[in-house]
Amino acid sequence: MSVDLSTTLCGIRLPNPTVLASGVLGLSYEVMARVARSGAGAVTTKSCSIRPRPGHHNPTILQWEAGLINAVGLSNPGIEVMVEEIRAAKALLASLGVPLIASIFADTIYDFGTAARFISEAQPDLIEVNISCPNVDAQYLQMFAADPYVAAQVTRRVKLNTDIPVLIKLSPNVTNVVEIARTVAEAGADGITAINSLGPGIILDIETRRPVLAHGTGGVSGPSIRPIAVRCVRDICRAVDVPVLAVGGVTTGRDVIEMILVGATAVGIGSAVAYRGIGVFQEACDEIQAYLERHRYKSLDELRGKALAFL
Ligand code: SIN
Repeated sequence: MSVDLSTTLCGIRLPNPTVLASGVLGLSYEVMARVARSGAGAVTTKSCSIRPRPGHHNPTILQWEAGLINAVGLSNPGIEVMVEEIRAAKALLASLGVPLIASIFADTIYDFGTAARFISEAQPDLIEVNISCPNVDAQYLQMFAADPYVAAQVTRRVKLNTDIPVLIKLSPNVTNVVEIARTVAEAGADGITAINSLGPGIILDIETRRPVLAHGTGGVSGPSIRPIAVRCVRDICRAVDVPVLAVGGVTTGRDVIEMILVGATAVGIGSAVAYRGIGVFQEACDEIQAYLERHRYKSLDELRGKALAFL
């Protein structure tokens, strides 16, 4: 039986629903191309800002029993460099039919617009707006996703500065994610990415009696947060009409299917690249294909949202 794994996110066709999530392997065009050749249906860059950022001191990432904890601190070489990387990556990805999603962030609402305008010069297929990094020092940099009014302002400013479809990346670390999703959709978001990492959390080295991350706290990701991500995606898919790119602890084809069942259009894989390697995208696709065949579905469209009736 022939099964169609393709999906369309904000008008952009993905050959399959698996997406390299932002923050993992998305800085150089060679690596982005390797991810696409390994079977990802789309590739998201690491988030970049107008100016380069060194990020936090090492250690910035730790693998623990149930996932990862990270406080990378949004390190990136700046948009000028990323525009060149994205141009080069796009040329390679286009031949594979794999779209590229450019992730941006900024320190002010105004700068989000400027970042969107600059990154658009590279013509990514989609722009993801990271307003939800938990590793920012609240004293200096607000988590824009925490406030519906601010999140909507960022969305409007970005939309004013680009014609490329825009995904707004939301945080689980809020009281009411549905309220934020509704306001960004009303403000013009073409789609929503949900969720960013959970927390921040803390892991201590009890021998030294200090936190293992130099930053002290960090965003928690991996399998331990997947049930929370599934619930957020379910809530958002019910509340808004725009498509959702689901992210959060997805490690296998089974996890991708779970996200599709609650309404996701495409599904990001991030931390799992650390456990399963770059082959995770093809493995997940094989698992999805086997599931669809076993249940006699011909496409993901037939499956999407099927669990919502029971939730
Ligand atoms: C980081 O760079 O600290 C993580 C990025 C994010 O969670 O958005």
